[in-house]
Amino acid sequence: MTRMTAPAVVAAKGVRKLPMLTAYDYAAARLAEAAGIDLLLVGDSLAMVVLGHEDTLSVTMEEMLHHVRAVSRGAQKALVIADMPFMSYQASVAEAVTNAGRFLKEGRAGAVKLEGGREVAPQVRAMVAAGIPVLGHVGLTPQHVAALGGFKVQSKTAKDAAELFADAMALAEAGCFGVVLECIPAPVAAAVTKALPVPTIGIGAGPDCDGQVLVFHDVLGLYDRIHPKFVKQYAELGKSAVEALTQYAQAVTKGTFPGPEHVFSMAPEAHDTFLS
Ligand code: KIV
Ligand code: NA
Repeated sequence: MTRMTAPAVVAAKGVRKLPMLTAYDYAAARLAEAAGIDLLLVGDSLAMVVLGHEDTLSVTMEEMLHHVRAVSRGAQKALVIADMPFMSYQASVAEAVTNAGRFLKEGRAGAVKLEGGREVAPQVRAMVAAGIPVLGHVGLTPQHVAALGGFKVQSKTAKDAAELFADAMALAEAGCFGVVLECIPAPVAAAVTKALPVPTIGIGAGPDCDGQVLVFHDVLGLYDRIHPKFVKQYAELGKSAVEALTQYAQAVTKGTFPGPEHVFSMAPEAHDTFLS
């Protein structure tokens, strides 16, 4: 497979559904690629599932870059999409372009993602003009958690749904190669997907989106602080990990690890000389 690109994502609309997953390091990128996932999002969810923060607000550009570089080293074919952290693009268009550029230049990502609708269209336009592919993100936008009053379903009223529709259209017009729809009613996502010229990637947005995204730790059962309704857990790796680590800890305690097969020996002459 050749490398996935932003134009290839656009071309996939109506042809095939797009599986996307978050990844935060080299090992995860390799696992996801081996599974056939060709869109890897280094999400700012990193703040919560990897760094242990309560929300996504405190993760920095430097922390994000550190992980984007690791994912880029692991991804041979996938499109690596770097999530713009809180306050790396909101304050000004110039700052937004500079920070997005760092993800391509230093992080070797192939695209960036930012949250918001019409209000970030100027940022999107400027990034695209600079040669930076941009993925949009509307609906539940976790960087707005303080203003939203928590993580909850968005666009439940006809008026809010119309606002979201206009936001998604504005992002596509500004040049986004796709738009993430998070935590909105399925009929709203279906209508946006039908109208938008670029793919929608849903998370908690129903089955009619052009692609789906989930958080690595949620899919594999590695994060137990929040269980959103929209997550499907495909494995219980957290449980398996605790079982394996318990065996290891007990073996050390009992003295049954390391066994003879894990031990290095010495040539008899060296051994005798050493001990004499
Ligand atoms: O940070 C993240 O993981 C995301 C996805 C859930 C879309 O933004
Ligand atoms: Na995010």
